[in-house]
Amino acid sequence: MSKSLQAIRGMNDILPEQTPLWRYFEGTVAGLLDNYGYRQIRMPIVEFTELFKRSIGEVTDIVEKEMYTFEDRNGDSLTLRPEGTAACVRAALEHGITGGGQVQKLWYMGPMFRHERPQKGRYRQFHQIGLEVFNLEGPDIDAELIILTWRLWAALGIRDAVTLELNSLGTSESRGRYREALVEFLTARLDQLDEDSQRRLKTNPLRVLDTKDANTQAALVGAPQLADYLDDDSRTHFEGLKARLDAVGIPYVINPKLVRGLDYYSKTVFEWVTDKLGSQGTVCAGGRYDGLVEQMGGKPTPGVGFAMGIERLILLLETLDKVPESIARQVDVYLCAFGEAAELAGLALSERLRDALPSLRLQVNAGAGSFKSQFKKADKSGALYALILGDDEISAQTVGVKPLRGQGEQQNIAWDALAEHLATHVAQG
Ligand code: HAM
Repeated sequence: MSKSLQAIRGMNDILPEQTPLWRYFEGTVAGLLDNYGYRQIRMPIVEFTELFKRSIGEVTDIVEKEMYTFEDRNGDSLTLRPEGTAACVRAALEHGITGGGQVQKLWYMGPMFRHERPQKGRYRQFHQIGLEVFNLEGPDIDAELIILTWRLWAALGIRDAVTLELNSLGTSESRGRYREALVEFLTARLDQLDEDSQRRLKTNPLRVLDTKDANTQAALVGAPQLADYLDDDSRTHFEGLKARLDAVGIPYVINPKLVRGLDYYSKTVFEWVTDKLGSQGTVCAGGRYDGLVEQMGGKPTPGVGFAMGIERLILLLETLDKVPESIARQVDVYLCAFGEAAELAGLALSERLRDALPSLRLQVNAGAGSFKSQFKKADKSGALYALILGDDEISAQTVGVKPLRGQGEQQNIAWDALAEHLATHVAQG
């Protein structure tokens, strides 16, 4: 196939074999968020470029080198959203839903776009489920966000495979004081820093802390610690969060180097990481952004949130063999009809069955075919039972119910008794 007719590198089709797992994952998360009182919001996937520059920060990797930016026919600069927080804040402001201190607990789901180097767990189109909470400034809501993800990990069976890393970035003032101290310390060791870190020292010095370069890491030994520069309010907030996590029994690791790649954070930042996926091990990440709404033209409005990477969590479920067996079966019953009269009777019967059993997954054979070929299709569908209708069955007003997964012999059931028979047998299968 010519290259221009293939999917773009790093952007994947999610094939029918995979969608049941995606729907299971998304459904599990959505159910949990309903239970905790979060409401879904849906934003466009394209926004004015300016929105991301102003919120994520001009000198971040995302804005500097990863955005899909283009001019539309009006000459406006637009960008495929690289994340959801900026657009969610924009929507909240535009519709006035956070005005007057109104609390909003929102969630969203959908594709995000970053021009990163694709590898396992890192794609150019990927999917996030994100949460954003507005107008709650205490650590209780930071704790709730973490507690509900902890519950989600249990529901998915992956709790043992993830670790919570926490840090506090303080307010922008305390971070400013820390930044000065760090720059002074690193400037004295400039020749030990890798090129990228030398550049970051000038533009975004805190990002030097999460360098992967061994020499730079060595140069950071003995560097000033952010924790020593925290203001009292941030310190109390962080202690409050930790006390709540302790109360629920959620283990965590304090990682003083956790600074995150987006500029809008203040106070709490956190990441859920796993060592089961190689280098792309962060499955869920976020934090507080108390200054962002104001920075984007709104009234001062505290905010906190996170986003999880669906691809990474799906990979983790597969890696740990935690894909529930129940999602593999897509068909309960497959109806085979032989001859035109049987096909017509089968159609009427199957609609009666759908009325009686709305959740029954019933596939009606299409394209006619011999006894052998219809059975083959029934078997391949994964159904528990084949329903068989031919001339004999029509005269007797019965249907043959043939177990396909070794649950006993074929039985002939009267049409009127079929729904009840299937209700008990499919539930047991
Ligand atoms: P983020 O850390 O950039 O934060 O992304 C959140 C999660 O999205 C990551 O932890 C990862 O699981 C997933 N992710 C990011 N990039 C990729 C990629 N290229 N391929 C696959 N998965 C990826 C944010 O986006 C913030 N908006 C989170 C937030 C919400 N903070 C506050 N509210």
